[in-house]
Order: sequence, then C-alpha cells, then structure tokens
Amino acid sequence: METSLNGKVAVISGASHGLGRAVAETLAAAGAHTVLMARRAQPLQEAAEAISAQGGAATVYPCDVADSGQVRNTASAIQDAHRKVDILINNAGIPAPRTFEDTDFSAWDEVIGVNLSGVFYLTRALWSSLCAADSAYVINISGTAGLRGGGSPAYGSSKFGLTGLNHAIAEAGKARNIRATILYPGGMDTGWRGAPIGALPRSESMDPHVVARMIAQLVMTPAEFVVNEAVLNPLDQPFM
Ligand SMILES: NC(=O)c1ccc[n+]([C@@H]2O[C@H](COP(=O)([O-])OP(=O)(O)OC[C@H]3O[C@@H](n4cnc5c(N)ncnc54)[C@H](OP(=O)(O)O)[C@@H]3O)[C@@H](O)[C@H]2O)c1
Repeated sequence: METSLNGKVAVISGASHGLGRAVAETLAAAGAHTVLMARRAQPLQEAAEAISAQGGAATVYPCDVADSGQVRNTASAIQDAHRKVDILINNAGIPAPRTFEDTDFSAWDEVIGVNLSGVFYLTRALWSSLCAADSAYVINISGTAGLRGGGSPAYGSSKFGLTGLNHAIAEAGKARNIRATILYPGGMDTGWRGAPIGALPRSESMDPHVVARMIAQLVMTPAEFVVNEAVLNPLDQPFM
C-alpha cells in the first residue's frame, strides 16, 4: 500500500466546503500538492490557508465547473503550473428541487450543468495532464441517489448519468494508466440543503473527514488494481 502522496498533484473541485474541503485537507496532509477549485474565491482562499497552516501545499483556482470556457482556461493554467495531474476528485455538486413539478427548465439545466457536464468538462480538459502522470486516479463523487433514483428528478438523473460517465472515463483510461472510481456516499454532515451541522447522530450522517480518508485510501490503491465503484453508508442508513 502506497502511504505517501509526496510529489503528487491532486485537483479537487468543490474544495472550499464540505467533502471537497475535507478531501483537500486529507490529501495535503498525505503530501500531495492540492489544487483547489470552487466558484467563490474567498472561501477557497480560506481553505488553502488552513491547509498551509498545517504544513500542506495548496493553490487556488476559482472556477465554475459548469462553464466550459472557465474550465478550459483553468485546466490550461493548471497544466502550465504543474505539467501533470495525478489525482482528480470530481466532487463539486449542488442539490436540486425535490419534486418533478418543482423542477423548472432552469433548475434542470443548472443541476445537470454542475453535477454531470461539469465532471465531463473538467476531466476532458485535464485529460492530457492525467495522461502525463505515471498512474493517474479519477474519483467521481456520486451519492446513493445515483443508485436508487427517486426523489429529485434532476439530482437523481445527474448522478445516474455520472455512473455512465465514470464507465466511459474508466474505459478510456485503461490504455493511459488512468483509473476511475465512482463513489456513492450516503448522507454526510456538510450542511447540505441548509441542514444544521452536528444535529444528526453519526450513525445516520457521516463526518466528511471519514469519507475523505476512504478517498485517500482509494487513490493509494496499488497501481495494478482499481476499485470500480464503492458505496459508503452510515450504519443505520438503509442501503437501498
Ligand atoms: N452532503 C451529502 O449528504 C451528500 C450525500 C451524497 C453525495 N453528496 C455529493 O458530495 C459532493 C459534495 O457535497 P457537499 O455536501 O460536500 O457539498 P457542499 O458542502 O455544499 O460544498 C459544495 C462545494 O462545491 C462548490 N461548488 C458548487 N457549485 C460549483 C460549481 N458550479 N463549480 C465549482 N464548484 C462548485 C462549492 O463552492 P462554491 O459555492 O463557492 O462554488 C463548495 O465548495 C456533491 O457532489 C454531492 O452531490 C453529498
């Protein structure tokens, strides 16, 4: 088992809050140079400063993953700065209206744009940087809504679509030594949909740092193996 990420470059989308920030902190603590992306610069900067204060390395790139032009420019700047990308965590995601009737066209476009198109844009734009690494790893963050559907039509569709995209990335990556995992976490304690952080017991809502540690283990899987998909749930949350 690889135990250090020294010398690795890790790009994390949605890195200023919740799971993305926890992943950035965890990968930086393991030695990776972290490249943090989110739309708003200030929270991103605060995340980078927290990583630096712990002795880690972080660079910030404010970018909306749903904006193909911004993604293209940001990927090009990352490539100029780092030449290669070893780890890509496609984490940025937004919730959606819960019912079919509440989902208007603009809500649909926005959610599919961030949760699905954003993953394609960023992975495609960084493809040559991933190919330049010895053995790159892409982790796509879905959710159990990507397995059972139901609930929000736009959110569930975006995460079901992500399963297909993960397969495509994994297939294309084989010849390039790029591995891909789709991770389906259950509920996390990130303030998602305005829920108060810390209100739910740990048996029902996961600490994002625990999920982040699992992600670190996945990217440290020996290069000849890949975990194609993983489901992670708090014990008391029903699997399906
Ligand atoms: N929380 C849960 O219970 C749960 C359960 C299962 C799966 N998930 C999935 O886990 C992932 C992370 O969720 P979370 O709860 O950690 O979310 P969160 O706390 O709301 O954080 C979302 C992060 O993504 C960024 N972001 C949002 N839209 C973006 C865009 N268009 N471009 C770039 N960055 C963007 C946000 O920063 P800005 O707003 O500044 O852009 C923030 O850094 C998502 O994919 C979500 O679907 C969450």
